Amino acid sequence: MTMAQIQSAPTETRHAPAPAVFELIEVEQVFAVPKPGRGLLSRDTVGLRALDGVRLTVRQGASIALVGESGSGKSTLLRVLLGLDAPSGGRALYRGKPIREARAHGTAFARDVAMVYQDARGSLDPRMTVGQLIAEPLRHFGIVPKSGEAARVAELIDRVGLPRDAANRYPSGLSGGQVRRVAIARALASEPSVLVADEAVSGLDVSTQAQLLTLLQGLQRDMGLTLVFITHDLGVASYLCEEIAIMYLGRIVETGPTDAVLEAPAHPYSAALRAAAPQFFEPIPEPLPGEIPSPLDLPKGCRFSSRCPAARDDCRLRDPQLGALDAGRAVACLHPLTSKGAQTPEIR
Ligand SMILES: Nc1ncnc2c1ncn2[C@@H]1O[C@H](COP(=O)(O)OP(=O)(O)OP(=O)(O)O)[C@@H](O)[C@H]1O
Ligand code: SF4
Ligand SMILES: [Mg+2]
Repeated sequence: MTMAQIQSAPTETRHAPAPAVFELIEVEQVFAVPKPGRGLLSRDTVGLRALDGVRLTVRQGASIALVGESGSGKSTLLRVLLGLDAPSGGRALYRGKPIREARAHGTAFARDVAMVYQDARGSLDPRMTVGQLIAEPLRHFGIVPKSGEAARVAELIDRVGLPRDAANRYPSGLSGGQVRRVAIARALASEPSVLVADEAVSGLDVSTQAQLLTLLQGLQRDMGLTLVFITHDLGVASYLCEEIAIMYLGRIVETGPTDAVLEAPAHPYSAALRAAAPQFFEPIPEPLPGEIPSPLDLPKGCRFSSRCPAARDDCRLRDPQLGALDAGRAVACLHPLTSKGAQTPEIR
């Protein structure tokens, strides 16, 4: 069953779909940046559209990978999902309520939606032991009485595969993989139902990465976690996530079941990513052929037209929006690569 669906995609399940945890409806994020050629402190600004009409539904129990080149808007999207930034346009909902409101009221949102940061070492206070670091969120959210704290810390240390004696060590005495495990244990301490991660396994050797992926997969299965996972690596996306959303210059250009999308990409950008990473578990080399346009000066029509090998004349005039393809897939392309073709995507 497709768990994360673009709203416009047809629902082919016989059962009611799982409730939506997150819904992004035409979400925009525009940053004011100095006009090109002006100094950083210049008041003469222009709007940089880091997110441009993003539509995404993440359903309970889904695992969805956000994939795209540097600058495509993945972290900006994550900050909106976490309620750290309010979108400048559109609606961003958590269980039907505006995310910012949910975050502002009480601790329920912060308990339920846990984050694993890319810079795991930087997110840990080097003066605290692993035990103290894991106990901190337990205490903050009042998860267990003081008397049960040590036992719960030991359980979490065990659950993420750290050695028993790790509780007394400091982050400086841990390997890169162990530091990520501490970050995951801290995230799990609040007993969340949603885990959001930004490049949580990048920059590690292949075997450490594989061990962490196995851990995350086990956690997702055993705890029924909803997983939103940013990665540059299609292998990571394919291993861990049932669904994939491919981003290009602030927009989701293709989404659907990961295996189906990677086997037969419908968007020429997805196909280019796939071709650039023939071996899974290797980061996508950057940049792809052709220069990525400045987000301050997007091409007319389709934003991928300046790099697209399949571009035709109409692509430089019309801006395709996500449209349903088949089997829970959606694509923003006027001339998709799969034979079935998109159902006339909306045009802006
Ligand atoms: N606070 C900000 N102010 C101005 N521009 C920003 C800000 N945050 C992000 N941007 C711009 O928004 C665009 C998207 O950035 P974002 O960090 O979301 O990309 P990303 O996909 O996470 O990239 P990476 O893979 O390098 O982490 C980029 O052009 C970036 O320069
Ligand atoms: S709309 Fe045209 S330019 Fe854009 S991705 Fe599709 S074929 Fe390429
Ligand atoms: Mg990022």
